[in-house]
Order: sequence, then structure tokens, then C-alpha cells
Amino acid sequence: MRAQAPDHSAFESLLEIWGEQLALCDALEQMADALPIGLSKMNCLRLARTIPAVVDRAHKLEELLLFPLLQRRAASSPALNAVIERLRYEHLEDDAYAEELYDALNARGWGRATPSAETLGYMLRTFFAAMRRHIWFDRDVLMPLLLAGGEDEMLAGLSRNAP
Ligand SMILES: [Fe+2]
Repeated sequence: MRAQAPDHSAFESLLEIWGEQLALCDALEQMADALPIGLSKMNCLRLARTIPAVVDRAHKLEELLLFPLLQRRAASSPALNAVIERLRYEHLEDDAYAEELYDALNARGWGRATPSAETLGYMLRTFFAAMRRHIWFDRDVLMPLLLAGGEDEMLAGLSRNAP
């Protein structure tokens, strides 16, 4: 049976927060590219503050808007439970990365020498690469399928093929 497609407007706030997350990724990438010498303490403190706020809001919105749609689908397509589990796990992983990066940027922002530029560069790249991948999956794979009323088989296949 074909599930009813959700209302497009439900996704507007998600598109907005994903846009904010991508802008944050760009800012973090610029910071990583400027290392090891071009690190601004002010910028470290500003981005440290932005990270948990943006990540937290994105997760709450996804859990409020995206997860219930998936859960409704999972009633007729139990394999989707694996997708939901995966998304929940990704949020926990993002939270852990966000916290580590917050601590690192705060430390450098307050003038500490650690983490080293090399470690900070690695942390920044790990964080924004994971975040971009996560948004790509949610926005460009999952959302279009949900909006189209997506074929349940295709959605179920995501649990096997997701990056
Ligand atoms: Fe997500």
C-alpha cells in the first residue's frame, strides 16, 4: 500500500536549519583551511558557541518532523526501523563530535595551545564532513522519498545502503 505523501510545508523549517548547518560547515572548513597560522581566537569562540546551538536545534526538528513520518511508515514496512535506529545513532554521534569540537575551539579561543593546529584541523574536518554527509542523506535522499510518498521498498533499502 502506498503511504500518503506528507505536506511540503512541514519541511520548510528543516530546510532552513540544514541551510544553517551547511553555512556552519563552510565556516569550519574556512577555519581548517587557514590553519596552522590563521586562527582567530574570536572566531574560535564564536563558532564554539554556534555549534551546539545549531546541532541541537537540527536534531530536535528532525526528531519532531522527520522521525514521526518514518515511524508511521515503519508500521507497514518494519525494515524502516533500522533506518530510524541509524538516524538516532547518528544524532548521538554528532552530539559527541559537537561537544569535543566545542571544547577544542573554546580552549584555543581562550588562548590555550592545545589542541595542536594539526589535531584541531583533523577535528574540524571530521566534524563538517560527517555533518555534510548526514544532511545529504536526510535532505537529498530521505526527504524526497518521504515527500513523494516514496516506495516502501526503496525506503527499506536505505537501511542497507545508507552511507
Ligand atoms: Fe539527522
